[in-house]
Amino acid sequence: MTDLFSKFDPLIQQREQLLATGVTDPYNLVMEKVISPTVAICNGRETILLGTYNYMGMTFDEDVIAAGKDALDKFGSGTTGSRVLNGTYQGHKECEDALKEFYAMDHAMVFSTGYQANLGIISTIAGKGDYVILDIDSHASIYDGCAMGNAEIVAFRHNDVEALEKRLKRLPADAGKLVVLEGVYSMLGDVAPLKEMIRVSKEAGAMVLVDEAHSMGFIGEHGRGVAEAQGVLDDVDFVIGTFSKSVGTVGGFCVSNHPKFEILRLVCRPYVFTASLPPSVVATAATSIRKLMHGSNKRAHLWENSKVLHKGLRDLGFQLGTEEPQSAIIAVIMPDLERGAMMWEALLEEGLYVNLARPPATPAGMTLLRCSLCAEHSIEQVGEILGRFERAGQRVGIIG
Ligand SMILES: Cc1ncc(COP(=O)(O)O)c(C=O)c1O
Repeated sequence: MTDLFSKFDPLIQQREQLLATGVTDPYNLVMEKVISPTVAICNGRETILLGTYNYMGMTFDEDVIAAGKDALDKFGSGTTGSRVLNGTYQGHKECEDALKEFYAMDHAMVFSTGYQANLGIISTIAGKGDYVILDIDSHASIYDGCAMGNAEIVAFRHNDVEALEKRLKRLPADAGKLVVLEGVYSMLGDVAPLKEMIRVSKEAGAMVLVDEAHSMGFIGEHGRGVAEAQGVLDDVDFVIGTFSKSVGTVGGFCVSNHPKFEILRLVCRPYVFTASLPPSVVATAATSIRKLMHGSNKRAHLWENSKVLHKGLRDLGFQLGTEEPQSAIIAVIMPDLERGAMMWEALLEEGLYVNLARPPATPAGMTLLRCSLCAEHSIEQVGEILGRFERAGQRVGIIG
């Protein structure tokens, strides 16, 4: 018998080597108690959270929690069915209405996760014989959507407009083409030049999908994302998003003005062949989305936090993923995985949680400490975060 697990041996070995150094397992942390969007108890210690996707701090919003409790009481704990059978409750419709209003678009389709939204939309609209042209640093759910749909995948260099244009020009003029972009790329926290990319895509006759997972709620005047901020939202055919970041719960969605969009509810397998979200989840999502429409003060504070942290880390001597702060994500580049894990642990001992990211999730084989800020971090907390980075960085020898 061939052991089907033997393909994982290199990863098992790498993991064992890392843990043999005595470092805490960075992928096995337990949040013993969550006190607020920015503070939790980890290993018995009060810890500032700087590695969640809770950008707008909605997880503890009083109205959001009340809506969830009310839906739990009135509609029960789950739907036990697909959206196309018994799994569409009033709350799912209200959630889709909230999304349509949030984006000012005609159609909204809620999925059980953002992963499934990408999987479903991409695989359903780009099938055999079609082309998906995507940024090489695209999220796994985008790649998986391409694989599931059997479309030809054409990748171009990260955020490179010229490379995208060149690839598009090489494709047959009459072939179906879907260009898939992200507003914010989550590893380095950098923003895509959507305006230019969408222009060259449209010139080549392609449809455009933008995943705004890390920008919804925060970037753009109304929090609609990078396409809004760059004034090109009207040219985007499909916006994909998630409830697991700024919205503060779980779920995914696609919004669009395409006149035939609703047919997707019958043909999109990751929408049809899975249970719908529990009533409490769609109620929290709808309430959160409606509150995010009026979140401009929070958005301004989050930008302030991002700028202060970026400048502070840079002044301390850390190497960062972007020259300027472009989003709520600030990536600190580590020399290698071992020292990255040591720094991650030193920060945890200081009472600061960040994400340790490593290949294959990261670009160019980098090990990153990814910091994601929250609108609920006070400016004092950001100061405290910088102090903890300084102490840990000196202890591990990352900065002088
Ligand atoms: C760009 C992007 N798209 C989609 C997703 C999937 O979102 P979800 O957590 O709702 O499955 C993520 C999650 O990390 C993401 O970063």
